Amino acid sequence: MINFVDNCFFLEGKDISYVMRIDKAGHLLGCYFGRKIARAAMQEVPDRFYCWMSWGEDGDVLDEKPQEAPTYGHTDLRCPIVSFKDRVCVLKYKTHRIYDGKGEIEGLPSSYDDEGKAQTLEIDLEDAAQGILVTLFYTVFDNRNTVARHIEVVNNSGEDVTVDAFYSMCLDFERSDFAETHFAGRWGMEREKVTSPLRRGSFCVSNARGGSGHFMNPFVMLHDCGANERSGDVYSFMLVYSGNHETRIDVDQRFRTRVLQGVNPFDFEKTLKSGEKLSSPESLLTFSHEGFGGMSRALHEFIRENIVRGYWKKRERPILINNWEATYMNFDEEKVLSIARLAKKLGIELFVLDDGWFGKRNYDDSSLGDWYVNYEKLPSGITGIAERIEEIGLKFGLWFEPEMVSPNSDLYRAHPDWAIHAKKIAPALSRNQLVLDLTKKEVRDFIVDAVVTHLKEAKISYVKWDYNRYITDMPYKGYNFDYTIGLYDIFDRITSAAPEVLFEGCSGGGGRFDVGVLCYMPQIWTSDNTDAIERVYIQYGTSFGYPTSTMGSHVTASPNEYTKRQTPMKTRGDVALSGNFGYELDITKLNDEDLKAIAQQTEQCREVRRLVEFGDFYRLADPFSGNIGAWQVVSGDKKESFVCMTRIMFQSNGYYQFIRLDGLKKGAFYKDTYHEDRIYSADELMYRGVIADFPHGDFVTYTMRLVEV
Ligand code: GLA
Repeated sequence: MINFVDNCFFLEGKDISYVMRIDKAGHLLGCYFGRKIARAAMQEVPDRFYCWMSWGEDGDVLDEKPQEAPTYGHTDLRCPIVSFKDRVCVLKYKTHRIYDGKGEIEGLPSSYDDEGKAQTLEIDLEDAAQGILVTLFYTVFDNRNTVARHIEVVNNSGEDVTVDAFYSMCLDFERSDFAETHFAGRWGMEREKVTSPLRRGSFCVSNARGGSGHFMNPFVMLHDCGANERSGDVYSFMLVYSGNHETRIDVDQRFRTRVLQGVNPFDFEKTLKSGEKLSSPESLLTFSHEGFGGMSRALHEFIRENIVRGYWKKRERPILINNWEATYMNFDEEKVLSIARLAKKLGIELFVLDDGWFGKRNYDDSSLGDWYVNYEKLPSGITGIAERIEEIGLKFGLWFEPEMVSPNSDLYRAHPDWAIHAKKIAPALSRNQLVLDLTKKEVRDFIVDAVVTHLKEAKISYVKWDYNRYITDMPYKGYNFDYTIGLYDIFDRITSAAPEVLFEGCSGGGGRFDVGVLCYMPQIWTSDNTDAIERVYIQYGTSFGYPTSTMGSHVTASPNEYTKRQTPMKTRGDVALSGNFGYELDITKLNDEDLKAIAQQTEQCREVRRLVEFGDFYRLADPFSGNIGAWQVVSGDKKESFVCMTRIMFQSNGYYQFIRLDGLKKGAFYKDTYHEDRIYSADELMYRGVIADFPHGDFVTYTMRLVEV
C-alpha cells in the first residue's frame, strides 16, 4: 500500500515500511526503510551547518541529508545515483503518480505481480533549467517484504546528454554500525560468504568481466553486526541484471552509510539524444528483522513468486542425467542410448545431451556457432536421438552455447565481424572461443533461428544454455550494457517461442547466477564443482539469496573429477537432493550397489522434491565457520520437513553435537521416516536440538524426513 500525506510517501509491504519526504526546497529525502512502523510524521534531520560544507541558493546542504536520488557536485559531494558528463545537475520534485500493479522495464527483465498485490509509485525529479528528468520507480507488494526499485533518465534538453553513471537505487542510512556480507568466488568455488564490519570509506562488490560473474554475485546484505540466522536487522540488495554490476557501500565522514546498486559505472557511458530515455535494471531491496533466515525466506518467496514465471514456475523439476562428466565430447548414439536405457530403469526422467553434438566438435577448439548435428556421432540426427530417448521413456534435453563462436567454425569463416572485437587489436581467446556481438540485430536473429529451429524440429523438453568465457575487447564504453540488452532480447524471443521447454542457465557452472537470468530460465547450474563436500559450501552460500528451486545439483562420480575426493554415494545423493536433483556420471560403469542406491535416491527425490524445491529454507549450521553444514526445508503447511546435515571431517575423540531445527509447528509431533518412524516433539527438535548421529568417517551426512503425526 502506498500513501502520500503531508509531503511524505509511506510505502508498506507485508512487514516493512519505506518512508520518504519532500523537503521545503523540493528535494526527495529518505526517512526510513525497515520493520513496519506506524504512519506518522517523522522527525526531520535538522538543517545543521557544519564547517566545510557548501550550500545552494535555497540554503540546503544536501551532503547532510539522506537522499533517494543524489547527484554530485553541488551541495552533495558523495557518490551520486546518476551523473552526466560535463554538467552538474540538481534534481527537484516535480510530480508523482501512484497506481495499482507494476509495469515492465523496456528491454530489461523485472519482477512482476500476478496476484493483484502490487502498488507502484513513480516520482518525477527534474532539473528544469537543463531539461533533465529522472523518474524513480518503487513497487511494494502487500504480501512481500521486498521493494522493487529502478530509475529512468529522460533527456529533454534539446541537445545530446551523456550519462556516465547510473545506479538503480540509492539508500542512505543515518548509521554505520553495520556489517556487510557478499558472495565472492571464482570458477568452481562460487558464492563463498564474506563478511566484514563497515568502516569509513567505500567498498564495492562489482564485476567488469562481462556477465554477472563467478567473482562477485550481484547480491549484498547489510546487517546488524550481531545478526544471526534467527534475529537481527538484515537488508539485502539484489540486482535483476546479468551484466557488469556494482553495489557500492560508502560510510562518510559523519558515519552515515550510502548504498548504491546498479550497472557498474566503470566502463559505462551512454549518450541520449534529446527526447531519448534510459532505464536502469531493477534492484530488489528486502528487509527482515528476523536475521539472515528471515531475509532469505522472504527473498526466496519473492524469487519463486515474482521473478520465476511461466510453465515451470510451480512444477516439480525432472530428475535428469547429463552426459558431460560421463563422456565429455566423446560419445556416439549407442553410448547415449545405453546411458538412457539404464537411467530409465533407475527412475531418472530426463536425458540431457551436453556439449559435442554439433559441427566437428570433439574438443573445445572448434564449431561453436555451427549448430547443426554431427551425423558421425549421431546418425539419426537430433530429431532421431530425441525420438529414441522418448521411446525409452525419458524426456530429451540439449546443450547450447549460442552466444559464442569458435574461430574454427563455418560461422566465423562466413562472418568474422560478428565476433566482438575492438579497433586494431585481435580479440583475446578464452577456451578457444570468441563472443558474438549481441548488439547486432542480424547476430541475434541468427541465434534465435538456430536454437528455435531445433526446438521446433525435435522433441526437446529442456535446454541447457551455456556461456563459457568473459567478454573482452568490448569496442566502446557502455558496450556491456548494450550486449546485456541484446542478450535479454534473445532470451525473451527463444523462451516465448518454446514456453513449455525447461531452460537451465549455466556459465562455467554458476558464473551467471542472477535473477536477470531467472526471469527467463527457472533454474541455473550452480557450479561445475560437483564434489559433494565443496557443494555444501557452494549451496549454503547460494542459499542466502536464491531458493533451492533455482539450483541445479547433481550426483557425480567418486573420486570426483575435479577434486579427486572420494565421498560415499549417500553423501553425494543427500547433498544433491537439496536442489534440482540429477546425475552426471557414466552409470553404465557403476557396480550393483551404486545402481541400487541410485534407484533408491530417485524414489526419495520423488517423495521430497516438491517440499525441497518449494518449501521454506532454514540454515542450521554454517560450514564456513564449523565442521558441519546443515539445512532444513519445511513445507508451507509445516506438515513435512527434510533435514540434511553434512559433517566435513571426522575428528578422533570427537563429541556429539546437537543441531537445533527450525520452522516446525510448535507443540506438534513429527515422525522421522528415515529412522524407523521415530517420534519427536517439534519443541524438542527446535529448542533442544537433535543429535546429528553421523556414521563413522569423513564426508558423511545425516538426513531426516519429518512428517507430522
Ligand atoms: C561448461 C558447463 C559444463 C559443461 C561444459 C561443456 O563448463 O558448466 O557443465 O556443459 O561447459 O563444454
